[in-house]
Amino acid sequence: MSVRRLAPAEIQPPSFAFSAENAVWAGHQIAKYPDGRQASAVIPLLWRAQKQAGGWVPQKAIEHVAEVLGMGYIRVLEIATFYTMFNLVPVGRHFVQLCGTTPCMLRGAQELRKQLVGRIGPEKTVSADGEFSWAEVECLGACCNAPMVQINDDFYEDLTPESLDKLLDDLAAGRPVKIGPQNGRVSSEPEGAVTTLTDSTLYDGSVVGAWRTRFEQEEKAKAEAAAAAAAAQAEAEAAKAQPATPATTRPEQKASDSPAKRVAEGLPPVPAAADHAASAATAPEQQERVRGGSEAPATDAGNTGDKPKG
Ligand code: FES
Repeated sequence: MSVRRLAPAEIQPPSFAFSAENAVWAGHQIAKYPDGRQASAVIPLLWRAQKQAGGWVPQKAIEHVAEVLGMGYIRVLEIATFYTMFNLVPVGRHFVQLCGTTPCMLRGAQELRKQLVGRIGPEKTVSADGEFSWAEVECLGACCNAPMVQINDDFYEDLTPESLDKLLDDLAAGRPVKIGPQNGRVSSEPEGAVTTLTDSTLYDGSVVGAWRTRFEQEEKAKAEAAAAAAAAQAEAEAAKAQPATPATTRPEQKASDSPAKRVAEGLPPVPAAADHAASAATAPEQQERVRGGSEAPATDAGNTGDKPKG
């Protein structure tokens, strides 16, 4: 960093005071801070003083700001000499700040520098007509559009020596100029044709929609699988809880041979012995009873037809 000193005494104005409008503005800035903290307004006040003085901060302006804020002069001087946003020497009506940091240097800042020296003169000197001065500064944060310059409050980017020359011509002539990239770019998109992210479906919502559909399908399949597994488990548990079915159903337990059904069909509630004998062929115990005589077949477990003797 270069040593920053105040301008020589011979070019310092004899006095400085805020204009009426700026005094009101300064009062509003100071009022933003609590009592005892008015010094917090020092940078905005110095910035306003620089604007009023034509782009630089004379010694008398530093003293005036110190008085307004009730600060020691040395404290305001420290701030004004520390921050490079405050110019300590006069500048041209169009003050050009050339970025010379690596990205801009690699993209041609040195060529712009030569252009400025040739057109305006040495760094930090004002052109004979008072229109221009320039200074090299560190990165101004527009590296994607290197090389670039700041002129007063605006950025001019993607410069070449030719486009910079034209820009300075237009400014000197009072013609309107385009702020920002000077090579046709709108902002910091790739130069020439776009080569990445060119699929239009990235921007019409269909990609996001396809992903959402896929997620929904996966979630649905998971839910269905879980439901099927739960149903299978419930079925297995229910089967375990049921009593074992006898290998051979007794004839009187068959729904097709129930008394109610027989009555409904106009048959006697108890089957005839011959029918019973045929339907009970698989029950040896019943067959024995039928062969033994007139005992009717049992209709339930508690009524076997074996009457106690005696
Ligand atoms: S390096 Fe020049 S703007 Fe960042």
